[in-house]
Amino acid sequence: MRKRMIAGNWKMNKTFSEAVVLAEGLARELEGGTGDVDVVVAPPTVDLKGVAEVIEKEEAPFALSAQNVYWQEAGAYTGETAPNMLEAIGATYCIIGHSERRDYFGETDEDINKKAKALMAHGIVPISCCGESLEIREAGTHVEFVVDQIKKDTEGLEITDPSKYVIAYEPIWAIGTGKTATADDAQEVCGAIRKTLVDIFGEETAAGIRVLYGGSANPSNIAGFLEKEDVDGALVGGASLKADGFADMVRSAMA
Ligand code: 13P
Repeated sequence: MRKRMIAGNWKMNKTFSEAVVLAEGLARELEGGTGDVDVVVAPPTVDLKGVAEVIEKEEAPFALSAQNVYWQEAGAYTGETAPNMLEAIGATYCIIGHSERRDYFGETDEDINKKAKALMAHGIVPISCCGESLEIREAGTHVEFVVDQIKKDTEGLEITDPSKYVIAYEPIWAIGTGKTATADDAQEVCGAIRKTLVDIFGEETAAGIRVLYGGSANPSNIAGFLEKEDVDGALVGGASLKADGFADMVRSAMA
């Protein structure tokens, strides 16, 4: 009942023209369609409009995501982007709570919860990230840590359509390090996330929420993650910056 999702987080890479070239390349790679798989790309904010235009012109089978948002509607918040601005340029998803935003920009679970509510009020699907540091993993408290993040990040959310809220489990020690979690590591935490969602939202809603794995996912290791019961796809960083490799990951998810 859950459609698989492959999402590419381009992070702070690609100028406007480079982003257009990458989106055009991906549109060509995927011109035969993506079957039952939802494909999403998240370029930097200044590139969103350019990628939106490629999607429209090429009728590309992927959706547009932002990498961040502010929860206020408008006003004196220099440097920030409001949900209605994302909506207006055709972004239908937005990553929130990425560990890089938590670590380098001090985002808290409370902030992430406000961002989710603001996005959902505009019909934009949050891709809400969680995940533990190496220190927590080594202490063996990673499951409790992530469950606590999920509880705080989803507090008071009203999820009427479970396909419109996505979680990405990204263990920090596996991000950009080439060191992946094993598929069993991913299942352990994604399964615990699912159980927590059952407690919060009930069986039916929890069964419809996608939980993605992220952290050095690539064309060679993606299939192993996708075999796991509670892993519904991937949030891909580095490997999403090459159209052919990213398209290969989409094709693995279609298989
Ligand atoms: P990498 O795939 O580069 O490890 O990044 C994962 C990630 O942080 C996606 O949001």
